[in-house]
Amino acid sequence: MSTPLSIDPEELLPRAAKPIIKVRDIAHVRFTRPDLNKASAYFSDFGLRQPQHKGDTLYMFAEAGLGPAMMFTQSDKANFCGVGLLASSAADLDKLVKEAGAVGPEPAEGWPEGKQVRLRDPAGNEVRVLYGPSPDVPAVRRAMTMNLMDERNRVNELQRPPLRPSTILRLGHCVLSVLEFNQVARWYMDTLGLVPSDIQILDRFEPALVFLRCDRGDEPADHHTIVVAQNVENKFSHAAFEVIDMDDIAMGQEHMFSRGWKHAWGMGRHLLGSQLFDYWRDPWDDKFEHFCDSDLFTGDRPADVSLLTMGGLYQWGPPVPHDFEAPKISPGFILRTLRNIRNSHEMTFKKMFRLLKVAKQKPRSWKA
Ligand SMILES: [Fe+2]
Repeated sequence: MSTPLSIDPEELLPRAAKPIIKVRDIAHVRFTRPDLNKASAYFSDFGLRQPQHKGDTLYMFAEAGLGPAMMFTQSDKANFCGVGLLASSAADLDKLVKEAGAVGPEPAEGWPEGKQVRLRDPAGNEVRVLYGPSPDVPAVRRAMTMNLMDERNRVNELQRPPLRPSTILRLGHCVLSVLEFNQVARWYMDTLGLVPSDIQILDRFEPALVFLRCDRGDEPADHHTIVVAQNVENKFSHAAFEVIDMDDIAMGQEHMFSRGWKHAWGMGRHLLGSQLFDYWRDPWDDKFEHFCDSDLFTGDRPADVSLLTMGGLYQWGPPVPHDFEAPKISPGFILRTLRNIRNSHEMTFKKMFRLLKVAKQKPRSWKA
């Protein structure tokens, strides 16, 4: 397990003194996929709803009544395209437009009531910042109650959650693997006002992973909205969707198994962020997570600093599968890695071997 170290997070990744804006949440993730019908079938079983095909794009929605939570454009290749984040006001879009390369404001794709500005992060992901009507409160079943020793909540009542796809309330976070870790993390902090909740280091002066949250002042926000992780290439790691409660994750798991989809890891409870989690792989091998019960932080809470370890991924759960974080080694991957490290300002072979050493760690000494 990773325990907090007595290192000042401001020494490693200082908060932006004057970010251009402060986003307040994540809205969507976008992909290309070679088979939109298969994407629709998979993500309907995963829990997204109202698949809408328009031209060469598929839109899918969460319960919270914002624009689409996922967008898929038809293409021969399955790629990650980018992420959408919610601005706090329409005026924020006007501020962002002054940034180099920004496009908009323009109507938000798939969300007729919303507006968007398009930017690009230093890893090449298209980041759309959106503003529009506030999300509805989802009309879904109430969270399960528990009969505790000192709190008897359910008497003469049965507990029978329905067997169905998990109820996706909202998109919660997206994790990005990047080649230029500091440059990308700084961009999200300086441009969009995200602040670190947890920083993980390879050694005292070498942050390699940061959990960034929205700074909403006194209003609590999820422990992380965007996570930036040092890697040998720019790559989508996973996106996570909030569901009602633990039983909603578990009944959704039953449903996904009944449909024969590929499980990735879970259920368990993360350490950093404390979410209950369950991960699945879509037909193109990308990872998607159901979660609930995230830690919530106000803007003033400082970040913790800890060592990057595999054990630090979770408090409890089954062993982390060997393929969960480790890359698939192929001649193409090796060539890309060599080229990337040669051209990188931040990534070195030394750092790569240290990251590999972490990836090969046994997360628990007593588990195979
Ligand atoms: Fe996650």
